[in-house]
Amino acid sequence: MTSTPLIERYRDLLPVGDATPVVSLGEGDTPLVEMPRLSERAGVRLVAKIEGANPTGSFKDRGMTIAVSKALEGGAEAVICASTGNTSASAAAYAARAGLRAAVVVPEGKIAAGKLAQALVHGARVLALDDGFDAALSIVRAIAERHNVSLVNSLNEFRIDGQRTAAYEICDALGDAPDALCIPVGNAGNVSAYWLGFTAYRDAERSARLPRLYGFQAEGAAPLVGGAPVERPETVATAIRIGKPARGQQALGAMAESGGAVDAVSDQEILDAYRALAVEEGLFCEPASAAAVAGALRRAAAGGFGDDDTVVCVLTGHGLKDPDTAIEGSAGLQRMPARLEAVEEALFA
Ligand code: F0G
Repeated sequence: MTSTPLIERYRDLLPVGDATPVVSLGEGDTPLVEMPRLSERAGVRLVAKIEGANPTGSFKDRGMTIAVSKALEGGAEAVICASTGNTSASAAAYAARAGLRAAVVVPEGKIAAGKLAQALVHGARVLALDDGFDAALSIVRAIAERHNVSLVNSLNEFRIDGQRTAAYEICDALGDAPDALCIPVGNAGNVSAYWLGFTAYRDAERSARLPRLYGFQAEGAAPLVGGAPVERPETVATAIRIGKPARGQQALGAMAESGGAVDAVSDQEILDAYRALAVEEGLFCEPASAAAVAGALRRAAAGGFGDDDTVVCVLTGHGLKDPDTAIEGSAGLQRMPARLEAVEEALFA
């Protein structure tokens, strides 16, 4: 049997009808994995939602399956997005699947190598701007208004509808919502989608309670923490290098209503969490994803969770997206001649 499309698994909660073509690559149903070593260090149960296990390696696929299916249903000729990388990879793949053209607009030099490779291999038009994500988004919004192309950024409500399903899966796996959810925040669509998902599931009586939502931005790109746009956002976590989040107000409302908060973590904290996940838990995520874990560890150290809390950290994207960051901070290679004695000496001497 082949994988059930996300749309079919939660059809009753999604805006699709009998006439909607289902464009699927087998997204969703991602693993929920205990993090025993980091839990011990934090003094609270930390669990990871592995969104890098989606077809293109990020959570974007949950929203893209709906957005591209609806674009096809609506007769769009093409899809377009601005992106820090993952949205462009996902849009390119789902557009290819649907037989639609895709155009992606990205900040030049600031998108991780794996993401660029994905957009290119799926045949998207890739336009690299001499400016950041925020400028790219305002340009594609204007293009989508003037032409018959569907905007598939998270401003598109269908993206948000699809991304809600991660909250449904977490409730199904745990038997109810967790006590808290830690999540990286960039353009602020995903944290907004999780909140809508948790509330919709509770309202449908498929879960009993709601979690507190803690969103984390990178210190150099933290407009929601600082309360003002950031003109030149900068962070090692390029996926969340965003100074004017399109869904900022909605996300702030969601976090406040949940009893949670938004906070910023430094690039050093992000990289420390990124290494700890890889070395201590065998989990390879991209730097932006590690911001959620950096934030959870910081919050735990400050006594910000209850002893019996279950805290889910959303690992939004796969580590292979950004091989450069992985290799740069690592121990590196040890070169040697192809002789048994040399290898033996290196390993055991
Ligand atoms: N984590 C990863 C790996 C991302 O790619 C993004 C966003 C986020 C977290 C933040 O999610 O924007 O909904 O708050 N990436 C977008 C992109 C901006 O273009 O791929 P958000």
